[in-house]
Amino acid sequence: MEQQKRYGHFDDQHREYVITDPQTPWPWINYLGNEDFFSLISNTAGGYSFYKDAKFRRITRYRYNNVPMDNGGRYFYIKDGDTVWNPGWKPCKTPLDFYECRHGMSYTRITGRKNGVEASVLFFVPLKKWAEVQKLTLKNESSETKTLKLFSFEEWCLWNAATDMENFQRNFSTGEVEIEGSTIYHKTEYRERRNHYAFYHVNTPIQGFDTDRETFVGLYNEFADPQAVMEGKPRNSHAHGWSPIASHYIEVTLKPGESKDFVFLLGYIENEQDEKFEAPQMINKKKAHALIAELDSTAKVDKAFAELCEYWDALLNIYKVRTGNDKLDRMVNIWNQYQCMVTFNFSRSASFFESGVGRGMGFRDSNQDLVGFVHQIPPRARQRIIDIASTQFPDGGCYHQYQPLTKRGNNDIGGGFNDDPCWLIFGTVAYIKETGDFSILDEMVPFDNQPGSEVTLFEHLKISMDHVIKNLGPHMLPLIGRADWNDCLNLNCFSWDPNESFQTTENVSEGTKAESLMIAGLFVVTGKDYVALCKKIGKADEAARMQKAVDEMIEAVKKHGWDGEWYLRAYDFYGRKIGSNECEEAKIFIESQGWCTMAEIGAEDGMVAKSLDSCKKYLECEHGMVLNNPAFTKYIYEYGEISSYPEGYKENAGIFCHNNPWVIIGECLAGRGNDAWSHYAKILPSYVEEKYQTLHKVEPYVNCQMVAGKDAYKPGEGKNSWLTGTAAWMWYTVSEFILGIKPDYDGIRIDPCLPETATDYTVQRKFREADYEITIHPNGAQKGVKQIVVDGKPIDGTVIPYSAGKHVVEVTM
Ligand code: BGC
Ligand code: NOJ
Repeated sequence: MEQQKRYGHFDDQHREYVITDPQTPWPWINYLGNEDFFSLISNTAGGYSFYKDAKFRRITRYRYNNVPMDNGGRYFYIKDGDTVWNPGWKPCKTPLDFYECRHGMSYTRITGRKNGVEASVLFFVPLKKWAEVQKLTLKNESSETKTLKLFSFEEWCLWNAATDMENFQRNFSTGEVEIEGSTIYHKTEYRERRNHYAFYHVNTPIQGFDTDRETFVGLYNEFADPQAVMEGKPRNSHAHGWSPIASHYIEVTLKPGESKDFVFLLGYIENEQDEKFEAPQMINKKKAHALIAELDSTAKVDKAFAELCEYWDALLNIYKVRTGNDKLDRMVNIWNQYQCMVTFNFSRSASFFESGVGRGMGFRDSNQDLVGFVHQIPPRARQRIIDIASTQFPDGGCYHQYQPLTKRGNNDIGGGFNDDPCWLIFGTVAYIKETGDFSILDEMVPFDNQPGSEVTLFEHLKISMDHVIKNLGPHMLPLIGRADWNDCLNLNCFSWDPNESFQTTENVSEGTKAESLMIAGLFVVTGKDYVALCKKIGKADEAARMQKAVDEMIEAVKKHGWDGEWYLRAYDFYGRKIGSNECEEAKIFIESQGWCTMAEIGAEDGMVAKSLDSCKKYLECEHGMVLNNPAFTKYIYEYGEISSYPEGYKENAGIFCHNNPWVIIGECLAGRGNDAWSHYAKILPSYVEEKYQTLHKVEPYVNCQMVAGKDAYKPGEGKNSWLTGTAAWMWYTVSEFILGIKPDYDGIRIDPCLPETATDYTVQRKFREADYEITIHPNGAQKGVKQIVVDGKPIDGTVIPYSAGKHVVEVTM
């Protein structure tokens, strides 16, 4: 294989990915902020910030799908004589003598050097603060005194990111700012219903500023050559309407060897209704002053940064593995867990592929994300479960999405995705197993956020299960509704109208026979969990009732869901098979193989083994397993969006990384460690990073949603990085099923499934009030724990009984 160009490398000691060439094949981004205030930042400092909700509280503006790509962000322009450059290369693109971007845990450090000057910017959002810090260090490395002109730049968004990009007849008249010393305030719409404003501050006196974009940039210039910067003269413009921006102008003189820090702060403030103004038309700046005072020196900022680093130290100390394989260890110990936090925070709302205006938090997405996050900060997971459940309807159905700011169900998309309810069990069970906190089941949770409608969370779980049972089709399999996990298998949509959304249109659903084997498998998996939970809390009758439903589902799958070599995918509106050898195209789908093998349906009859073999035979390729095979080559009216995609992309035979782990877990349950590992390594970012930086295109340190499949024009090319359920599933798979450390109600269950080449490894696991050091001796076995010794004493079975304190565990396979 031809060696591909490399754009960066891992630095595990610092938990960073180091980008050494600014012209990456696609912007490689990072996320700043852990709660409330968030920013996206690319390796050239592009991106934007928002408070809680990327749609309703966008602080700075960003133009998606722009030319050039990734234009707009927080930019520092340095004018040194006639040369103007940026530490992150863009937007001027002046060739740099040195460039480096280090993406770390919730921070990014970009360093550029030009003509003897080094500019290094550390970007981060301090814990519990509603602000992005940009600490710029300028250093004169030359032998002469340097006089530099420094311009900062941010462009304000008029808060609602959607209307900001469309309602120009209004927007161009509403923009308002205030300038006070070194602080520029953005207060558009503050005069009316908004009680919030933003500001951009620097901790030094300034020699000028600009707040009107056109005056600063020039109507016929660009971010690459703003007139004010090129001429080295700020205009001191005061924006009235049009497009408000914030730019500070600072003159800096540095002796040889001298360096100076500048702390820039992009902040967000909310005021009480009766304390909005300090004078007519003047915003009350008290809270802004207070926030600035907390972060107005290098020492204060360095302290805040140290706290952020400690926060991540603690989070990443909860589960740590030492296998001796760096590629595995860095994903498990650093990047996979980091991506899980990001997906938990953002769901599918804001990335460089998700515009932040389309979607809020997904019902199914957030429940799955939770499984990757729950060990990190359980109280936040708990709150999330309550928020999600509050968007459920009394019949167990639910809103498919909700807005993070309001926590209200999203009416534009509505409900009717029949897999959704089951995921609530998936998320809740994971939470209880991690924490032992059964009290969450007694929380009173409303329907559709309506006060007065509250029932216990347990009741929500019950109606979730019942929603499946009450919506069975002619083969006693779950009706699919608008779609199951695969949003694009729209079996009741029947659309010839390109103006209709596949997701929200059901042109015909009356009398549908469309059933899903994916939901059947999911129901069995979560149903078994539900039964075990019921037994645990003394609800024996309910356990028995649901066990019966689970058994019936298993029978229905065996009878109507097996195609001879693999599980069928679905039945269509008319009751015809989908994902069968009898079909012309898409004879086999991954989702039902994943869920029915995880559910171990028909294992005793060889179904599981056959299904897993079929995945290897028909779905696997060099870059992972494709979603279906062969790909659809034409639009099928009865199937909807899935057949709208060209061959090999997205849900039409793309490698949808999200569902590869389902099959891998199936492999683990079946004890096939070699196969599990080889599937896993194919989509593990660190393995891809080593081989395919150019082809893969997107960030090599995290999973992306989709890698083009074997039928695609460019197999191996990745898209939709960061915000994907793949993060949580990769974590769940490797931490619990491959490495085999599985939280359970009464303790930690140990059940690894490894390739036979695996050598001894150690996992440090904090669990509730306990701290375990678990060493596994595989001895060439793929599966099967022979003996567990806890603190020198052998125990029966595979569950380490929970007890607080430090424990040393030795496991022999
Ligand atoms: C995508 C799906 C996605 C859905 C969400 C579709 O176009 O292919 O992956 O879940 O949109 O609305
Ligand atoms: C992405 C969506 O966020 C998720 O909910 C869905 O399950 C997958 N695409 C598959 O369509």
